[in-house]
Amino acid sequence: MMNDSRVLFKEMTMEFDKVINGRQSVRGYKKDPVPQALIREIIDVARRAPSSMNTQPWHVHVLTGEVLDEVRSRNMTEMAAGAEVKRDIHSHDPYEGVHRERQIAIAKKLFAAMGIAREDAERRQDWVLRGFRQFDAPVSLVLTYDRSLDPGAVVHFDLGALCYGIVLAAWDRGLGTVINGQGIMRSDIVREVANIPDDQVIMTCVAMGYPDDSFAANGVRADRETIDDFVTFVGF
Ligand SMILES: Cc1cc2nc3c(=O)[nH]c(=O)nc-3n(C[C@H](O)[C@H](O)[C@H](O)COP(=O)(O)O)c2cc1C
Repeated sequence: MMNDSRVLFKEMTMEFDKVINGRQSVRGYKKDPVPQALIREIIDVARRAPSSMNTQPWHVHVLTGEVLDEVRSRNMTEMAAGAEVKRDIHSHDPYEGVHRERQIAIAKKLFAAMGIAREDAERRQDWVLRGFRQFDAPVSLVLTYDRSLDPGAVVHFDLGALCYGIVLAAWDRGLGTVINGQGIMRSDIVREVANIPDDQVIMTCVAMGYPDDSFAANGVRADRETIDDFVTFVGF
């Protein structure tokens, strides 16, 4: 028989696992605004993320309303017109091998859910534009870090920890998110419109809002490898 504290601990673990396993990226949102107090609460939890030597090198710029609309429409228009990508951070080359296979697998799932055929160039382009518009989410959190830490690597890790905390805390409160690299492809525009200081590097943005359950792509569950595919136990 477990004592009370162990029962409580087990229940908390079950809830924790449910949040982690249940979360998935949300790419269709209701128009409902998200209360500022709720966003504060989410970031308040996420700020417990670990960071190298407790440097906490992050900043979060929370955008909504006309500011966000301007960011999304200018980002989308420029990218649709074939403008050059201008990210603050160095990004990867096109994925190859197993990474490319996994990239294709999730794209196929999303297109299948949305009923977008392989040869339907117009609807495929429309899907890409949605990403540039941050999936029309009512809120976008732009994550930045102190430029003095560039070239980042450890600092990127720190922001990843903060970002996952935000995403999970949001999910736990009934909010959906998608970490959205497409939303900051024109980081110069994001910086100008959101008035982000030059001594901060724009890392990514996270679209956030109440999930639209009728949006087909929100039902897509991305695959994961099994732990036997990527874990090596040593010395057991
Ligand atoms: C750094 C990063 C950038 C991402 N950028 C995009 C993006 O631009 N557009 C998009 O639709 N999803 C984006 N995603 C979401 C991933 O596609 C998603 O996390 C992955 O397919 C696994 O699906 P899940 O989050 O539903 O488990 C990004 C995720 C990360 C971590």
